Amino acid sequence: MERTFIILKPNAVRRGLIGEILKRFEQRGIKIVGMKFLKMSREQAEKLYEPHKDKPFYNELLEFMLSGPVVVLVLEAPRVVEMVRHIVGATDPLKAEAGTIRGEFALTVTKNLIHASDSEENYLRESSIFFREDELIDYYLDVQDDI
Ligand code: TYD
Repeated sequence: MERTFIILKPNAVRRGLIGEILKRFEQRGIKIVGMKFLKMSREQAEKLYEPHKDKPFYNELLEFMLSGPVVVLVLEAPRVVEMVRHIVGATDPLKAEAGTIRGEFALTVTKNLIHASDSEENYLRESSIFFREDELIDYYLDVQDDI
């Protein structure tokens, strides 16, 4: 089993898309092992986007991520890093395939609704900014026997 980390960005919360987005992971049989609703601190946002700190979009991205509450989750399934990126769609909503979250609900790159870790290494780095190990809950999810 593999894990990944996602964030429903502030515009996903403001637009009332929490249920719509989480439904897509649940119906695929992906297990939620951690979930929190929170307003990110500046320190957390800076840590999360540290790899982008020299990019021209960095300040705008940071302010956007701090503009309201977010939902952070840890998800578990086989090959879940790649699977979740597939369900989320390309970074630029213009290039995101129809049927993906960004392909259906997002319009601009900065406000592309959702963050998802792009590797197991980044999952570990990013999830540790928001979750302690003992906040991730191991339990049996019977639908995973049938997927
Ligand atoms: P990136 O890690 O390239 O994309 P992804 O979220 O698909 O892993 O970029 C991180 C975030 O930075 C992205 O979700 C939105 C923002 N961003 C911009 O605002 N402008 C840009 O030109 C790019 C590439 C990213």
